[in-house]
Amino acid sequence: MASSPPAVPVLDRTAVDRWRRAWDEVMAGFLPGAASFEHVLPAVVEAVCGGAPRRILDLGGGPGVFAERMAGRWPGAEVAMMDLDPVLLALAGAGADGRVRVHRGDLTSSWCGEVGPDGPYDLLTIVMTIHYLTPGRALALYRAARSVLRPGGLLIVADLMPEAGLDRVTGSLPPAAGLAWERWWDEVRADGALRQLLDERRAVFAGRVPAEFTPPADWHRSAALRSGFEQAGVVWRWGAHAALAAIA
Ligand SMILES: C[S@@+](CC[C@H](N)C(=O)[O-])C[C@H]1O[C@@H](n2cnc3c(N)ncnc32)[C@H](O)[C@@H]1O
Repeated sequence: MASSPPAVPVLDRTAVDRWRRAWDEVMAGFLPGAASFEHVLPAVVEAVCGGAPRRILDLGGGPGVFAERMAGRWPGAEVAMMDLDPVLLALAGAGADGRVRVHRGDLTSSWCGEVGPDGPYDLLTIVMTIHYLTPGRALALYRAARSVLRPGGLLIVADLMPEAGLDRVTGSLPPAAGLAWERWWDEVRADGALRQLLDERRAVFAGRVPAEFTPPADWHRSAALRSGFEQAGVVWRWGAHAALAAIA
């Protein structure tokens, strides 16, 4: 269920910046070729949107670093992000200098109510997050995304999407990235400033197991078309990782 962001403790700005920078390095392990993805993205977005997007929403936006970069790329845009994790939401709120509106919501629930009033959106992004969802939830996400996009708006889904027919071993999340993820969380825990939010995080994620659902890109394309998108196709690939663009 969607709700307001948690009360944010006063955080040391240097530490927030350090954690957010380090997060980017961790994510580069999860999304090999991330720089190439972000290089390709603006041309795709501007071609579909007919220029800079005006309203942008990043789903599963973590500490908001990707959303902040989009705000930098398109300074006239209203940029929002949504996530479930109280710690990451606090870092997003403290770090993005008010350039990104931060929403708390759960992609396995009715999240459109939380972000809908800021829409309809020109651009929705979901980066390395859809694999947390079961097949049914992932399909529901395509339907919900379609409903908050304006006609002609664009959804970008970037994740592990092996080519159909490739050995599924090539489609596993990189183990080194998992270790870097654990190290990042250990450092945040060691600081102590976020203790209360870390407790809250534990409660939020108790009993939740990432589905690790990483079907081929064809599955995503078909899910988008079944959900009412007019067109869908892969616009970026880096090994087993890819980005699907779907036009509403
Ligand atoms: C691997 S991280 C990617 C974060 C961000 N997209 C990035 O690229 O830096 C996955 C994100 O999905 C969020 N997430 C997982 N399940 C979620 C759910 N049910 N609802 C909202 N966010 C969720 C996590 O909290 C985390 O921030």
